[in-house]
Amino acid sequence: MASTTEKPPLGGIKAPPSGAYKIVSVPEAHSAMLDQYCVAGTYVGLSEEESPWVPFGDNAAIRHLAFDVRNNVYANVLWIKSPGVIGTHKHRGMVWAIGLEGSFRYLEYDWVCHPGEFITEFPGHAHTLVTDDPNGMKAFFWMQGANEFYDENGNFVETLDVWWFMSHYESYCKEHGLEINRQLYL
Ligand SMILES: [Fe+2]
Repeated sequence: MASTTEKPPLGGIKAPPSGAYKIVSVPEAHSAMLDQYCVAGTYVGLSEEESPWVPFGDNAAIRHLAFDVRNNVYANVLWIKSPGVIGTHKHRGMVWAIGLEGSFRYLEYDWVCHPGEFITEFPGHAHTLVTDDPNGMKAFFWMQGANEFYDENGNFVETLDVWWFMSHYESYCKEHGLEINRQLYL
């Protein structure tokens, strides 16, 4: 009788089967379609030529990493250079973020985000981002949908969405004679 008692690895999950350090050709039922339309992904290196720090108010800058106009999605690194505030805003979509340097928090919540820590923000919530760190903060943000900004009296000021972020990036590039990096456009 054949033995069936061999324990499956990884709690029943058979992947990952290939440990070979090589490019493996895998089957694809629609390879002609993929050849025509599939995009492998994007790469944005660290240099400012690939994506510059674009001023965002007097004490902050944004390094744009991705724009997806079909889904109103945009990704970037936010840098606040010294203790300060990013105005009160309300999201109309999802936000995912990871702290990279320093720390930041929201006046409305009781946690502080440090390097390596992960947060989400949900549609409908208005909050006020601050950093109390003497060196400010940097964090990676992946955002979807509109961001409505308000003044200190709760009056609506401006909507920031994928079009705003693209315009922020492209107008800075134009002003400084930098080439638009197509890798930022998904
Ligand atoms: Fe937010």
